[in-house]
Amino acid sequence: MAGQIPRQFIDELLARTDIVELIDQRVPLKKAGRNYAACCPFHSEKSPSFTVSPDKQFYHCFGCGAHGNAISFMMEFEQLEFVEAIEELAQQHHLEVPREQGVGNARPAAQADDYNLMQQAAEFYQQQLQTHSNAAAVQQYVAKRGLSAKTLSDFAIGYAPDGWDNLLKRLSPANNKPLREQLVELRLINRNDNGREYDFFRDRLMFPIRDKRGRVIAFGGRVLGDGTPKYLNSPESRLFHKGRELYGLYEARQQPGHLEQVLVVEGYMDVVALAEQDIRFAVACLGTATTSDHMHTLFRFTPKVVCCYDGDRAGRDAAWRALQSALPQLKDGVELNFVFLPDGEDPDSLVQKEGKDTFLQRIAAAVPLNQYFFEHLVQEYNPNTDAGKSALSVKAAELIKQIPSEFYRESLTDKLANLLGKPRERTKNAVNRASNRVKPATMKITPMRRAIGLLLQYPNLANVMPDAPELADADIPGIGLLLSLQQRLLKQPGLTTAQLLEQWRDLPEHSILMTLAAWDHQIEPEQLSQEFVDTFHSIEDQYLQQRLEALERKDKLQQLTKAEWHEYKLLLQALKSKKPKLAT
Ligand code: UTP
Ligand code: MN
Repeated sequence: MAGQIPRQFIDELLARTDIVELIDQRVPLKKAGRNYAACCPFHSEKSPSFTVSPDKQFYHCFGCGAHGNAISFMMEFEQLEFVEAIEELAQQHHLEVPREQGVGNARPAAQADDYNLMQQAAEFYQQQLQTHSNAAAVQQYVAKRGLSAKTLSDFAIGYAPDGWDNLLKRLSPANNKPLREQLVELRLINRNDNGREYDFFRDRLMFPIRDKRGRVIAFGGRVLGDGTPKYLNSPESRLFHKGRELYGLYEARQQPGHLEQVLVVEGYMDVVALAEQDIRFAVACLGTATTSDHMHTLFRFTPKVVCCYDGDRAGRDAAWRALQSALPQLKDGVELNFVFLPDGEDPDSLVQKEGKDTFLQRIAAAVPLNQYFFEHLVQEYNPNTDAGKSALSVKAAELIKQIPSEFYRESLTDKLANLLGKPRERTKNAVNRASNRVKPATMKITPMRRAIGLLLQYPNLANVMPDAPELADADIPGIGLLLSLQQRLLKQPGLTTAQLLEQWRDLPEHSILMTLAAWDHQIEPEQLSQEFVDTFHSIEDQYLQQRLEALERKDKLQQLTKAEWHEYKLLLQALKSKKPKLAT
């Protein structure tokens, strides 16, 4: 992992980003009073309940409860991880994401123009497919494989010409040492022991591998005939980690709407041939088994993954490995299915033979996870013998416990019990919890929540908040949070709601803070300050009451010190006159 992104940079990024503009580019907003509104992009609705506040730099949907700052929006809307969202926002402001010097920063960061060089290489290969003296022969091969110009262009497929240094000369015409070094590091260029440099890919049909944001990070190159190796792939580099990337995912995501399902196939040609038949939701792992990282990525973009394998032994093994790596990623609401193809066929050959509709029927008829799970296990362990039963139950339990989804755990456990011939009492029905967000409407607003909510929504209130460090001792839930919000605001005046929230992102309080930031308080603007101070005083009262009771108990035992006795008297007076004043 690279070093942490400095907190200050994240503040800066949020300060520069206008959430209204950011969201408006993706979900057109309409002005509604002080705020902006739209139909919520996170659930389907006919009338707008999604609002964006320019003051708080915060969005909130009254319908589904979605809410957050600019970073959260990018994460949810663009399906990015936290760091990716930061990188995306930084890029919009032409900022480099700095990294703190940390321990064990094993992964080198991409250099400034790495992506640019990869893109130039891709464009060079694409151009060669049109213009090289060998282009006619390559085009003929491509036509034989049934690929149209549209598909070639959608996937930016190209041709790496024969010869030692075509790409090298193109990208580094002068002998620019640092540039050549960079090309070697990106694995576009090889350097042998004698220091001789030459193109990594020669005389191959080139498939650029793009990351989730569409940047070229590697290539796969196919020989045009029967040579070996059939496919040459870019080795790992600082841009390319094959256990994480999926060929075709970027292209699939270019289709309008959400990805209803993703089909995982084995080869580049399978992805491309399916797209040619207008099946544009296939991806391929890059010459590796399907990893847990792959599955994690896939389920971020789609609720349904269908793994497609050969029906032979190797295909079955690959499917079982894929199932195992998927288990830790099975959340409620996702689906994992398996398709096994007839012997000797791959998706490319099959879709060309039987056409789109028949192929889609195969996918629709895929075997669901919980069926394949036991089909596989009973082949290994015989459920008709005691020894087999016991081994089966141990193995199954070991796999089932890796699954986060309660629904899948329950249903597989039930199936296992049936299989072993001892139907199991259904204890608790697995509920498919769509969301565990606390809806603001259903939340009870205690004085503490009111104080935290107001301070969060109007950070300027920190200026009218009395300084009461002794409250830190109070036994009132949330007091620590309120005081640390105050401290942050005194240290960094001018923080927006969004920036404040960001500082709590990884802490357990984040969820309640998000909810309170979206709380609809219905207080008139001119009353806010008074309301906040009153709320704060009522919390102080609560503390003083606690303190009084403690002193009372001590008094009964005649254990009060002189100072405590003095405090006790003052407290009695103060609380009697209902005009709370802090004891000194
Ligand atoms: P296949 O041998 O099934 O190739 O390899 P394919 O996709 O059907 O390709 P065509 O139809 O013969 O052109 C499947 C995948 O395994 C990896 C590649 O990712 C390929 O797409 N592979 C295969 C390699 O990395 N190197 C190889 O030499 C062969
Ligand atoms: Mn093939």
